[in-house]
Amino acid sequence: MVERILFPVVPLWLLFIAVVVSFACSSRDGSIRAYIFADSIRVSRTIAHPFSSMQSEGVPGAGCTGPRESALHGASQYNSSGCTEVIPHGRKVLLYGAMGRHNFGDMLMPWIVETMLQRRYGFCPDDFLHADVAGADLRAYGGHLVIGVGSLFSNMYNGSLDVIFCGGETLQDISLNIAMGMFGRGFKACNADDFMHRGHSLAYLLPKDKFAKPGLFIANTVGGPGTSRINQSWFDHCTLRQNLHRAGYEDCLAAPDSVIMINILFGESISLRTNGLPMGRYFAWQFNSRVHFDDGFVDAILAAARTNNFSIVMFRAGAAPGHDGLKPYEAMKSRLEKTDSSIAVTVFDGLNIWDISALISRATLLISTSLHCRIIAFSFYVPRVTVVLGPNGTQVGGNKHFAFMRDWDGDWDYSNDAADARIGLSIQEALRPSSKVVFDNNTRRGVGIYENVFKTWADSLHKHWKSHGRSGRQ
Ligand SMILES: *[C@@H]1O[C@H](CO)[C@@H](O)[C@H](O)[C@H]1NC(C)=O
Ligand SMILES: *[C@@H]1O[C@H](CO)[C@@H](O)[C@H](O)[C@H]1NC(C)=O
Ligand SMILES: *[C@@H]1O[C@H](CO)[C@@H](O)[C@H](O)[C@H]1NC(C)=O
Ligand SMILES: *[C@@H]1O[C@H](CO)[C@@H](O)[C@H](O)[C@H]1NC(C)=O
Ligand SMILES: *[C@@H]1O[C@H](CO)[C@@H](O)[C@H](O)[C@H]1NC(C)=O
Ligand SMILES: *[C@@H]1O[C@H](CO)[C@@H](O)[C@H](O)[C@H]1NC(C)=O
Repeated sequence: MVERILFPVVPLWLLFIAVVVSFACSSRDGSIRAYIFADSIRVSRTIAHPFSSMQSEGVPGAGCTGPRESALHGASQYNSSGCTEVIPHGRKVLLYGAMGRHNFGDMLMPWIVETMLQRRYGFCPDDFLHADVAGADLRAYGGHLVIGVGSLFSNMYNGSLDVIFCGGETLQDISLNIAMGMFGRGFKACNADDFMHRGHSLAYLLPKDKFAKPGLFIANTVGGPGTSRINQSWFDHCTLRQNLHRAGYEDCLAAPDSVIMINILFGESISLRTNGLPMGRYFAWQFNSRVHFDDGFVDAILAAARTNNFSIVMFRAGAAPGHDGLKPYEAMKSRLEKTDSSIAVTVFDGLNIWDISALISRATLLISTSLHCRIIAFSFYVPRVTVVLGPNGTQVGGNKHFAFMRDWDGDWDYSNDAADARIGLSIQEALRPSSKVVFDNNTRRGVGIYENVFKTWADSLHKHWKSHGRSGRQ
């Protein structure tokens, strides 16, 4: 059952309103409101998506409103140093991760975490701040207004912060430089010098001493090989998206990546999206722009499309540097059409993360190099094939893909990798009626595990907020 926080600071007569409002703020597809201060004029806006089809007006009230939300100051969201002035207004949950550049999986993670905390624990939209190493406004793509995390370091921000490390392949030695490389030109990390910790910068694993009033530090199904520079004691709660048998991380709980919850949380609004999305029965095909496919691979894809009478739709899962490109897709389209003009091939160029999710959710089969494409398909019970090796042996993915299949979405004869000619067998296997039971079982089991593991830390965060109060005064 759904639990709600009723803060002791709320007078009794407000309780009724609080309950009504907390339902409003957590209504199934309730609008998520944010208050953005621009030049000290308060502007109330509805954050973009995924709710454009159901723009119910969330009524901000006692539980979920007010002038205590954090204010992002300034005419632009960040200045030439990459900094944003954030005025403390009570305790906040900082959602931290690689959500500031276009990679739809990383952009979805904060939505999953905050929506579960709102619907199941009564948190409010304004209880959250979103940060990456650099600031960026990704609301046009269905993401967040993301601030550079250095804007919240103790020299600039003195409010109480609980920090949730939202996930992704972040549990490894990613330096600030590497992280910034994904942003492209024109972006800066606020307080860049302050990322160093004992001689190293771990861009997505910040220590508590960077913050003035750190509360709980929570790792939400973070991925990666683990780094020997830190261990589980870095976090108050540690959850990983794979079974990691590594010294120093023995007590971390494993669960599938949090994005597997997308269908349960947002399935209904995703099913209503139409923006130029393909119709009919199709293979959804995503590949990283660095992958080269040989003729055998292309022939196998075409043969499968012919046999099943499907069209082929290519799409981008990420448009940040090093991700997917339209040019390789256009080239592949020509190549496919030259080989067999009877198969309809289209390139979907949308970058809204909810459209991309809708495209995958309606596909008859997903073929991808991106792990998060597989994860969305997993959530929506869509048969899926992951391409881990390029045909001439170039490794384009690897450990994280194998780990996901091994721990949560396995045991296939062919579909564990898709090198060269085996792609045809992988597709056949994925489309076999008997495979549906396995896919469905994997999803149901995975969701159950994630929910249990989520509860371990969310209960604790909830208690922490109840005892300290939203005002953050401690
Ligand atoms: C950017 O904003 C921060 C926070 O308001 C401020 O401390 C810093 O001096 C500003 N830097 C520049 C170059 O404007
Ligand atoms: C916290 O910072 C604000 C300015 O952002 C300042 O007005 C306030 O006095 C500071 N509080 C403490 C306890 O340092
Ligand atoms: C983790 O690291 C801390 C400090 O860096 C150390 O004191 C502790 O013994 C380590 N714990 C484990 C389980 O490795
Ligand atoms: C193949 O699909 C197209 C469009 O989806 C449909 O018009 C056609 O009848 C189908 N052909 C067969 C043989 O099923
Ligand atoms: C793989 O094949 C492509 C196209 O034939 C080629 O450009 C690329 O260099 C090859 N990669 C390796 C590692 O051989
Ligand atoms: C699917 O799960 C059900 C119930 O948990 C189990 O009885 C069945 O054997 C599973 N089937 C497969 C193919 O794993």
